[in-house]
Amino acid sequence: MSGGQFISFEGGDGCGKSTQLKLAAAWLREQGVQVLETREPGATDLGLELRRLLLSGEYVPVPECELLLFLADRAQHVKAMIQPALARGEWVLCDRYSDSTLAYQLAARGLSDSADLKPMLDFAEVGASPDKTFWLDIPAEAALQRVSARTNMGEESTRLDEEALSFHQQVHAGFAAIYREHTMRIHRIDATNTIDCIHQEIRLQLQGMLG
Ligand code: TYD
Repeated sequence: MSGGQFISFEGGDGCGKSTQLKLAAAWLREQGVQVLETREPGATDLGLELRRLLLSGEYVPVPECELLLFLADRAQHVKAMIQPALARGEWVLCDRYSDSTLAYQLAARGLSDSADLKPMLDFAEVGASPDKTFWLDIPAEAALQRVSARTNMGEESTRLDEEALSFHQQVHAGFAAIYREHTMRIHRIDATNTIDCIHQEIRLQLQGMLG
């Protein structure tokens, strides 16, 4: 079997990527693959603190601060968890990674206009970039309906979930632009399909990676 693979799951809030990540991890384990299921922000102890600062709503960071906190969380995550897992030959399935930063902070918050921030994003990755990314593509309106249904069922929403529709539309446009630049790495999936249909599509891709 090939060595560790790094796979990220991306998309707007409510796109269903966390469900798909779990299904993909379970299937890979059935194939005998060791899997690390992880997420951003907040996979490490330090990251959990950063996640609270970023998402609880207790603070409203300026965009520059928001960006730096997400990157701080990433650097800690990569060195403490992702790189060691890959070195052990495990597959890392990560719920959000740098494409989320590009879509949320650079595209939607408009930071991409202020400076060339890509080197900073590379710095925070500490050399770990995904081999494959699944982008669960869903229009912002539909995704937000799912988020508000979840909130009505008692799930807590985050500071970013509560941003206006226009923000989520910009996030979506951000992901679409990233996809157009990286069609080899990123596999776009129509996230309005059923859970099972999406899982089958992801399985096909994973099968190809298993060789
Ligand atoms: P989370 O509750 O994990 O939501 P989801 O299930 O949608 O991933 O919240 C993570 C939030 O953080 C989400 O709104 C996207 C945002 N985020 C960024 O803005 N930038 C980033 O770099 C990352 C990793 C996440």
